[in-house]
Amino acid sequence: MNKKWWHDKVAYQIYPKSFRDTNGDGIGDLKGVTEKLDYLKDLGIDIIWLSPIYQSPFVDEGYDISDYYQIDEAFGTMEDFDTLLAEAKKRDMHILMDLVINHCSDKHEWFQKALKDPEGEYGDYFYFRKGKDGNPPSNYRSYFGGSAWEKVEGSDYYYLHMFAKEQPDLNWNNEKLLKELYDMINWWLEKGVSGFRIDAIINIKKDPDFESFEPDGLDGLAWVWRMVEKVEGVGELLEDLKKNTFERYDAFTVAEVFNMKENELSQFIGENGHFSTMFDFSAHPVFDKKKKPYGSTAARLEIMKHVLFQSQLKCENVGFMANVLENHDCPRCIDRYLPPYAQNDTGAKMLGTISLLFRGIPFLYQGQEIGMRNCRMESIDDYDDIGTRWEYQTAIEAGATEEEALEACYHSSRDNARTPMQWDDSPNAGFTTGNPWLKTNPNYKEINVKAQLQEEDSILSYYKELVALRRSPEYREIFTYGTFLPVLEDVQGLLAYERRLGDKSIFVFANLSEKEITVRHNVLAGGRILLNNLREIPTGEDEFTLKSCQVIVAL
Ligand code: NOJ
Repeated sequence: MNKKWWHDKVAYQIYPKSFRDTNGDGIGDLKGVTEKLDYLKDLGIDIIWLSPIYQSPFVDEGYDISDYYQIDEAFGTMEDFDTLLAEAKKRDMHILMDLVINHCSDKHEWFQKALKDPEGEYGDYFYFRKGKDGNPPSNYRSYFGGSAWEKVEGSDYYYLHMFAKEQPDLNWNNEKLLKELYDMINWWLEKGVSGFRIDAIINIKKDPDFESFEPDGLDGLAWVWRMVEKVEGVGELLEDLKKNTFERYDAFTVAEVFNMKENELSQFIGENGHFSTMFDFSAHPVFDKKKKPYGSTAARLEIMKHVLFQSQLKCENVGFMANVLENHDCPRCIDRYLPPYAQNDTGAKMLGTISLLFRGIPFLYQGQEIGMRNCRMESIDDYDDIGTRWEYQTAIEAGATEEEALEACYHSSRDNARTPMQWDDSPNAGFTTGNPWLKTNPNYKEINVKAQLQEEDSILSYYKELVALRRSPEYREIFTYGTFLPVLEDVQGLLAYERRLGDKSIFVFANLSEKEITVRHNVLAGGRILLNNLREIPTGEDEFTLKSCQVIVAL
């Protein structure tokens, strides 16, 4: 395998709107990101992914871009961005932009022109189709609910939007549009960004016939991803994209890909793949609480082990996945993945260790390093997220009480990850001196960066040690290039693996269960513990004991 500059890096996602507000308007800004660079450097971060900061009406929080060349004024100016880039560079850190090119905003000038003339030049930048017998062209349900087709007022045309109606899909068959997109990407690369996180990219290939599917809900619609699953040929578009942009700059790309076809892994992330890496979302369905067969959270944790191991093994000779526990679209990992007995500092440290020492590129999400938690909201009006509002409404229409619908939001809302970053115990957690755009989690007095920096046993101090271990000169190679091997996989409640490079091995042993576990393994016979999330130190020649949620890294 040819070594690449990004193979051994640790990445961190910033959701700028909620990270740090320096001008008191309640919205995080780029100056706030620059202010916190030293904090991130100290945590051991090499790469920063910024969720969208382009000009946007914020219907979907910046994932609806109205001008790809402008910084939204809520975040600051292009000068602030250039300062951030320069300051990051000084610290040997890389900045990734979020690349949202499956769709743009309905306020983008392309779409505004297209609306005026759906059959004209700009109309072909999008998908305009005539309805059928007074109905939309097909029965697709958008990812945010409701039809994926929106009628153009005063005409027979509908346009396609796989997400919100304010996010019209771009037509990747239009050469002129592609040139505009490639030029824009190269413009950012010229500026000095090191690459991109690429949004919803699997959706760019459409079936131009837009065939309807068997309805999968009472609304008579079928999820639009059914088309994505069926249509062939996304690879050609992705190769063209890469050749005309990323490849020319040795850029790092991490793709958000759902519904990839089996056996396409090497085309996506192999040595000459479309992307550098893509997020490993394989455990996501296991924690979808609507999917009953998976059972209790503890049972799901056991299934997660197998699913993630499979994923690790699959990419072993192919490439690197990007390992994540959290992002801006998910609830907080302690609430999501851990059963009640593990929802504490020990459990949080255990999850972090398992994820960060897997083979792949680790991505942390802001606040994960201090164990931020889901936030209870008092009413649906406290939520901002478009997806949450739809889910709430659907639950109410299906007969749920307000209380029940809110409880569901508390467990699944994307806003759980979007509440302001908790820096200290001053009002609004030191995020802003103004009114935060989204409620601050009231637990900030106990959970915040300032307090945890001072505590030796805090989640933050542990994460610092963990990242430092992964990046240390002694172990960097093995954690980056070492093979992944499951260990004692059939032992219920134990998640253990080995990373092996040449004649060197490092082991990770985690006790997922509520009870103590005896591990029949001789790693500690003359071995050394490099990291341990509890004060109790396991010993033993042929076996050793791990407390509930204890994790050790040993060699
Ligand atoms: C995935 C992004 O992560 C999510 O926040 C957004 O709503 C959709 N793509 C649409 O861009």
